[in-house]
Amino acid sequence: MYRSHTCGELRMEHVGTTVTLAGWVQRSRDLGGMTFTDLRDRYGITQLAFNMEVNADLCEQARKLGREFVIQVTGIVIERSSKNKNIPTGEIEINVTELKILNAAKLPPFTIEDETDGGDELRMQYRYLDLRRNPVQQKLILRNKVALETRKYLDSQNFMDVETPVLIKSTPEGARDFVVPSRMNEGQFYALPQSPQTFKQLLMVSGFDRYYQIVKCFRDEDLRADRQPEFTQIDCEMAFVEQEDVLNTFEGLIKHLFKTVRGVEFEGAFPRMTYAEAMEKYGSDKPDIRFGMEFVDLTKEAQGKDFVVFDSSEIVLGINSSKCAEFTRKQIDELTEWVKRPQIGAKGMVYLRYNADGTYKSSVDKFYSEADLKIWAEKANMQPGDLLLLLSGETNKTRKQLNELRLHLGNQLGLRSPDVFKPLWVLDFPLLEWDEENGRYHAMHHPFTSPKPEDFHLISTEPGKVRANAYDLAMNGVELGGGSIRIHDRALQSQMFDLLGFTKEEAQAQFGFLMNAFEYGAPPHGGLAFGLDRLVATMGGSESIRDYIAFPKNNSGRDMMIDAPSPLDEKQLKELGIRL
Ligand code: AMO
Repeated sequence: MYRSHTCGELRMEHVGTTVTLAGWVQRSRDLGGMTFTDLRDRYGITQLAFNMEVNADLCEQARKLGREFVIQVTGIVIERSSKNKNIPTGEIEINVTELKILNAAKLPPFTIEDETDGGDELRMQYRYLDLRRNPVQQKLILRNKVALETRKYLDSQNFMDVETPVLIKSTPEGARDFVVPSRMNEGQFYALPQSPQTFKQLLMVSGFDRYYQIVKCFRDEDLRADRQPEFTQIDCEMAFVEQEDVLNTFEGLIKHLFKTVRGVEFEGAFPRMTYAEAMEKYGSDKPDIRFGMEFVDLTKEAQGKDFVVFDSSEIVLGINSSKCAEFTRKQIDELTEWVKRPQIGAKGMVYLRYNADGTYKSSVDKFYSEADLKIWAEKANMQPGDLLLLLSGETNKTRKQLNELRLHLGNQLGLRSPDVFKPLWVLDFPLLEWDEENGRYHAMHHPFTSPKPEDFHLISTEPGKVRANAYDLAMNGVELGGGSIRIHDRALQSQMFDLLGFTKEEAQAQFGFLMNAFEYGAPPHGGLAFGLDRLVATMGGSESIRDYIAFPKNNSGRDMMIDAPSPLDEKQLKELGIRL
């Protein structure tokens, strides 16, 4: 028996008991007559006491213990003379009678403490050491709880966990595929799934009317804080449902998770907003509604006064925040520089300050009279002291830029508290999205998403205006998940591929299996997938998903620890029939 208790378990009630503990040496303090060692495992920290007078040999041994040595000790639980109120085991310590070094350790390249001195790269390289740190462990513990409660909830709702293949066929579903060469089929490749989308639909055709899977998905796309090349979905599908059923079922899941894992209860139903409204008010399909500062359209009010920048713009948009009242001219100039950075791409920014004395000050007041500016202020519902910031240009670009500015201000002004959770269903996404570069339409969600019946008549005349039965769940500015009611009819699915520019042959070659299945009794169905990494990171109050993944990749898609990807040797390449 290596241990009778964990390092997080012992309390006053154990005083007098002989115990055996095993774990890692966090640190030792040599106080002359006494040596104190903190012993750590994933359950906590217990203080070990070695007394020079009682056992000098043992105390000498303890003094030589290095950080991260793995040791086993036996001793008696005693009450501490100076108690540590900050840790659960802080009232006791172990009066050690036996000490065994199970394994020595080299000095770690960074300190294994809550606040470490290790930089990002080093910690990625020694991820197994970083994972010993309590804050990182807590994140994985949170992830485990979320996954467990997800299974409990979905099981209680009759969902069945079914595994789907990982070596599949390359299909254009949005991002680029990762591909795997086949040795047995030289010159041919599998693809890793971007999601189990078509398989879960086939499971509906097979009669498994409620499917779920906590599943790895792979996408070869540019990485950001909330994107990894391999990530995990809570992937779900239901048969005989309408959009409302899907939304209710998964709103239930999110409520269950927040309640059981975070102790957070949401009141009433999650708010809902159409995609069109989200873009108009926030310039984003995943608005952060923890704070206001909604867009105000001032195009009409701002044009026609000979200010060329506004007159030549498709749209003039502003955001007003009373919280910006204290902003100095210098801060406004900094914000202007911020929006002009290439990542944001605005040409400039105009401001209007409604002074406390009721007068106005604007960067463009040589073009606009006090009366003109008053009209802006009224439209933007400004109060004395408020500051209005305006961007203009092409509609979509301006919305995007102002969204960035709004979020940036939200951060600056402390309006995005990580402990406040604001879910929002975004509904009625467009079915198609125009791809400027390739001069064709793309499915905005994926090609299996059904159009809204009431918009169906527009499909050949104005396809860009057709809305889909597609929905996302946003929270705190993050897209947590999304899904749709699917097409379950061969003819409609075929028409959809036509619209997306597939020839009949291409559609048959790539998705024939699905369209054929639709001819054998496909039930109406729909579903959704949550990004587990993003869900857990949001619940943990973080925008970066990396820490919530045990072994993540860096921004270039590399695993720094195992050093992957890596070249193959000639022999392996030859076996696969690949020449570089
Ligand atoms: P979608 O592509 O919207 O839908 O993905 C669902 C959710 O997965 C998460 N996600 C990611 N998380 C981390 N890194 C990434 N690279 C990444 N890409 C996506 C997001 C997203 O909301 N098959 C459909 C779902 C359906 O229609 O049922 C799908 O995959 O949180």
